[in-house]
Amino acid sequence: MLLLHGALIVDGSGAEGWIGDLLMAGGRIAALGPALQVDAAVPRRDCTGLVLAPGFIDAHSHDDAALITTPAMTPKLSQGVTTVVTGNCGISLAPLVTPDPPAPLNLLAREQFRHAGFADWRDAVNAARPAVNAVGLVGHTALRLRCMDELNRPASAAERDAMGELLDEAMRQGAAGLSSGTFYAPATAADPAELLALARVAARHGGVYAVHLRNEMAQVLDAIAEAADCAHEAGLPLVISHHKCAGRAQWGRSLQTLALIERLGQRQALGLDVYPYLAGSTVLREDLADGLTPIRLTWSEAHPELAGRWLADIARDWGVSEPAAVARLQPGGACYFQMHDDDVDRILTHPLAMIGSDGLPHDRFPHPRLWGAFPRVWAHYGRERGLLTLEQAVHKMTGLTAQRFGLPDRGVLREGAAADLVLFDALCFGDRADYGEPCAPAAGLTAVWVNGELALDNGRALARAGRVLTRQARAGS
Ligand code: ZN
Ligand code: CU
Repeated sequence: MLLLHGALIVDGSGAEGWIGDLLMAGGRIAALGPALQVDAAVPRRDCTGLVLAPGFIDAHSHDDAALITTPAMTPKLSQGVTTVVTGNCGISLAPLVTPDPPAPLNLLAREQFRHAGFADWRDAVNAARPAVNAVGLVGHTALRLRCMDELNRPASAAERDAMGELLDEAMRQGAAGLSSGTFYAPATAADPAELLALARVAARHGGVYAVHLRNEMAQVLDAIAEAADCAHEAGLPLVISHHKCAGRAQWGRSLQTLALIERLGQRQALGLDVYPYLAGSTVLREDLADGLTPIRLTWSEAHPELAGRWLADIARDWGVSEPAAVARLQPGGACYFQMHDDDVDRILTHPLAMIGSDGLPHDRFPHPRLWGAFPRVWAHYGRERGLLTLEQAVHKMTGLTAQRFGLPDRGVLREGAAADLVLFDALCFGDRADYGEPCAPAAGLTAVWVNGELALDNGRALARAGRVLTRQARAGS
């Protein structure tokens, strides 16, 4: 038992904060109130002047392998994240066994594709005792690689069935839903029938469908409509991943995309996730080296020593064009400075937007969102610019996300809920990671509890009490 005393309690629902106490016992919140009367023998921690909120939920992570290979999960825990959603963008570690995963699967640790079923991955994560909880999506691209021998065409009926069976098994083993990323080959070749067949399987089990849109540039509206139609027809909630309007020609179009999303929201359950930065980050692509977008290398297998350098400088040094430099650097990844402030502001403050880092934990010189996304939402968009209240910022990082992913006892502070908690100083909680120094823990984070265990205390990592939250466990049974 532990009594947290005198904190500003921001409960994750969006409701106004209030000063009070929280009692935890057995990994759960036992009581919550303005002044709890508790036996003097119960240990207590004075939280005066600090904010107590639900642990943050990273709606969009690529931590499938990191949970196993780096279970301390420092980039996330040090931001106050207590649960990560894995398997996004069609990219999941399971169910796939391959020694040589192609792009974009190689965003994940390449030698870790050794889990033939979702249950194998789940068990491996639990055995590693990660510091944070995980919720797993199953990636359409992983299913394609598993079930198709020829990838540059839509799946046949037999292949759809094979993928559907694997997904069905994963859902029965506790997966949270399906993800796709038709922006990337080889998923680009999928037709609506293929995606619908899989979305139907996820729907049957109460799952969600998270989509990296086929296009986030000129055809972004068509891409939103395609994803929404699929989810609507299959009958499951849609999550539009890392929503953005990318590329100079698209700047300002979030007015249109959000209007469309709102209209669709009257027809079906949907939401979106977003990260609080102007740069995106993904694998190296020649088509993104358009000469207008500043590009900074995050990793390169051919030239690991160049990670962190600007592509324009590399191209100049080599006396070649940027696309030619990209070709020489492959395989690799980069940050693409392709968004406008007004769009990011508009998307991030939208009531349907929850926060996902989209952090890439295996990059040598990663995008700062890996370490900084959550504190930055409050520091930059809340405290500094006044675009979000503290309660709104917390809601986007906790309660809203828990609702969307069907985590009934996470993301909120109330009696009986799991004791995933974060304690921070609202005056100085903020990101320290930036593009030049991307691996830096947050400032102003006091403590984090995961499943009732003290996981981080003033920068010191303690218990690793996370686990995979399967659908059964999520329902609390
Ligand atoms: Zn993506
Ligand atoms: Cu992603």
